[in-house]
Amino acid sequence: MGQKESGEHAEMKIQSGQEAKKAGYKVPFGTVSITAQARTLIDTALESRWVTKGKYVKEFEEQFAALFGVRYGVAVSSGTDADALACASLYDHGARRGDEIIVPALSFVATGNAVFQAGFTPVFVDVKRTTLNIDPDLIEARITPRTRAIMPVHLMGKPAEMDRICAIAKKHQLKIIEDAAEAHGAEYRGRKIGAIGDMACFSLYAAHIVTTIEGGIIITDCENTAEALRSLRNHGMTGKFTFERIGFSAKMNEIEAAVGLGNIAIFQDILNARRRNMLYLIEKFARFDRFFITLKEEAHEKLGPHAFSIILREGVNFSKDEFVAYIESRGVDSRNLFYSMPTQCPSYAFLGYKLGDFPEAEYCSDHGTHIGIHQDIDIGQLDYVVSVVDDFLKTRA
Ligand SMILES: Cc1ncc(COP(=O)(O)O)c(C=O)c1O
Repeated sequence: MGQKESGEHAEMKIQSGQEAKKAGYKVPFGTVSITAQARTLIDTALESRWVTKGKYVKEFEEQFAALFGVRYGVAVSSGTDADALACASLYDHGARRGDEIIVPALSFVATGNAVFQAGFTPVFVDVKRTTLNIDPDLIEARITPRTRAIMPVHLMGKPAEMDRICAIAKKHQLKIIEDAAEAHGAEYRGRKIGAIGDMACFSLYAAHIVTTIEGGIIITDCENTAEALRSLRNHGMTGKFTFERIGFSAKMNEIEAAVGLGNIAIFQDILNARRRNMLYLIEKFARFDRFFITLKEEAHEKLGPHAFSIILREGVNFSKDEFVAYIESRGVDSRNLFYSMPTQCPSYAFLGYKLGDFPEAEYCSDHGTHIGIHQDIDIGQLDYVVSVVDDFLKTRA
């Protein structure tokens, strides 16, 4: 994929304004595949003048849910909306405004924001720096009579420890909402990530494996939940102009669904290319193990790679900023490894947490970065990344 530019999977790369500015990168962070099939569907939708939610959205929902062996898909405007609507559907199960949802302290800030947007309070739990995911040992201490759900995030496509999380949820009668925004195609103990919890939310933003450019989708096996989600994305409407829930305006349109359908057709190709890249870098970074923590793929799982995280080990003789400045100067695009939402995002200061409350999440943020391993990056570019890291380490020897 990516290198084969012709035939039915012919791609057109779209660059956002930000990406365009970074066009000089030798190893860019993100990409988006717009297939020939998608372009045909876009043209058809435009010609029909039916561009708001219609048959392509429905087809996209069905095909996306089928990828995971799940019965229903509800497509929305963004991954954040997917998270927020999934939370808001808990009101149909007796939740009240202000109830609590457990989330990892480390994630893209959208996870915490969505919980607030739905009217709940996020209760944060620290992560493990080796997995980037919620630490199951710390969950139970944070459960209160107001807890309604656990929302694990499978960060960077690394599955959270779902066996432990499911057992805790069952014991305390909590729902599980998987934030699988970054984990399309990941597997855990033979099960697909996204098919384990009560609901799973995916981002379809341009950086992800299946993209609609902007977009999101929730999948679930529960018919009533799917019905509630459909209502929630459309102002809480049921039937004709009856408003039963406090809803959102979060519909997907036909053009976005057309791009998504094109991506589903090449899902396995994209996933294979990303897995090849991820596993290649994991292997190559083994020789830097003294310096960096990177994700591993354990025997019981398959990563659904979003990006490649690099965390400096304690005691190395350089800072994250020095490392990042060097690789960026050599054309390797990077992003910070997110933040501890409660203690490193100023927007969460009102919650009253203090630095040090989530040491692992804070460590990942202070010492971590992530770089692209998407389908348009080839092995030559990955070898280049390795040589850049080698060169950097020589400057520190
Ligand atoms: C873990 C996580 N959750 C939620 C989101 C929100 O998705 P979106 O940007 O589509 O709103 C993202 C974004 O990629 C994410 O990484």
